This record gives sequence, structure tokens and C-alpha cells, in this order.
Amino acid sequence: MANKAKKIIIRPARKSDGKNISSFLRSFPKEQVLQNYFPDYKTSFVAVDLKGRVIGHCGLDISKTGLAELRSLAVAKEYRRLGIASKLVTKCVKLARRKKMWEVFAVTGAEKFLKTQGFRNLPKHMVFLFKDIN
Ligand SMILES: CC(C)(COP(=O)(O)OP(=O)(O)OC[C@H]1O[C@@H](n2cnc3c(N)ncnc32)[C@H](O)[C@@H]1OP(=O)(O)O)[C@@H](O)C(=O)NCCC(=O)NCCS
Repeated sequence: MANKAKKIIIRPARKSDGKNISSFLRSFPKEQVLQNYFPDYKTSFVAVDLKGRVIGHCGLDISKTGLAELRSLAVAKEYRRLGIASKLVTKCVKLARRKKMWEVFAVTGAEKFLKTQGFRNLPKHMVFLFKDIN
């Protein structure tokens, strides 16, 4: 298993990765990875195998308010539980710090995993609300 992880490179996404990233992310159900739009490649990271195939992705949406949203986090099934998502999230959090963001938040189905990465619920007196406007 450790060998498998060694063959994976985690790096900033490039413009030329665009098509590979979207076809990778579109292979996940919409309930897991929102499909409306994907984060800018300039604030995203990919995990690629030795053949250059995208097997993992995580990006940030940077906002002027100082809030960054962790977006489009996904790792291919056969590469899970190797620490790849943890590395991708760490890269995004470091990038958010460099961009002088105050906080990083995520709307996620992977609550347990993100809590291992230091994410936590809103304080008890606050809730997250949304309205579907379409
Ligand atoms: C959530 C997801 C991104 C996690 O990817 P991953 O690369 O498997 O994550 P990691 O390997 O970093 O960590 C996953 C678990 O493996 C464990 N792990 C990490 N390295 C390990 C290793 N070498 N050996 C055994 N376990 C390991 C971690 O501790 C973690 O444990 P936990 O599930 O108890 O929290 C992946 O399951 C996924 O793509 N899910 C579908 C898409 C999705 O739901 N995305 C979230 C949208 S925000």
C-alpha cells in the first residue's frame, strides 16, 4: 500500500489539466461532488499517477470576504485510505493562508474525514441555511 502512495504525485493544477479534471470530477455522483462548476485551476491541486492520470483533486474558491471554500475534493476509489485527500486538503489550507484568508469552510458529505483535518461544526448558536433559488 505504501508503494502505491509513493507513485502518486500531488501538485498544483495546470490549465492543461482542465479536461482531465472535469472528466475525473464528473465521474462522481452529484451528491458527492457538485457539478455546476469547478474551482479555478489556479487555486486547485491534483493527485496524478505515473501516467499523468488525475486520481485526486481538491480546490479552493477564494472570496473577497476572506472566506475560502474547500471544493471538489475527491480521490479515485482504488487510491483511497492512502492519505492522498489529507495531503490535498493540507495544500489547500496552506494556500488559503498564503492568500490571507480568515477561514476555510466546506459543505460536505465527508464530515468524519474533514474533522480529522481540523474542520469543526459551527458554534451551537449558529446554523448554516441555504435556499434553492432555481
Ligand atoms: C472523502 C475522500 C476524498 C477521502 O479520500 P482519501 O484519499 O481516502 O482520504 P485519506 O486517505 O487522506 O483519509 C481517509 C482515511 O484513511 C485513513 N488513512 C490515511 N492514510 C492511511 C494509510 N496509509 N493506511 C490506512 N488508513 C489510512 C485516514 O486516517 C482516514 O481515516 P478516517 O476515514 O477514519 O478519517 C474520498 O473518500 C472520496 O473521494 N469520497 C467521495 C467524494 C466525496 O465524498 N468527497 C467529499 C466532498 S467535500
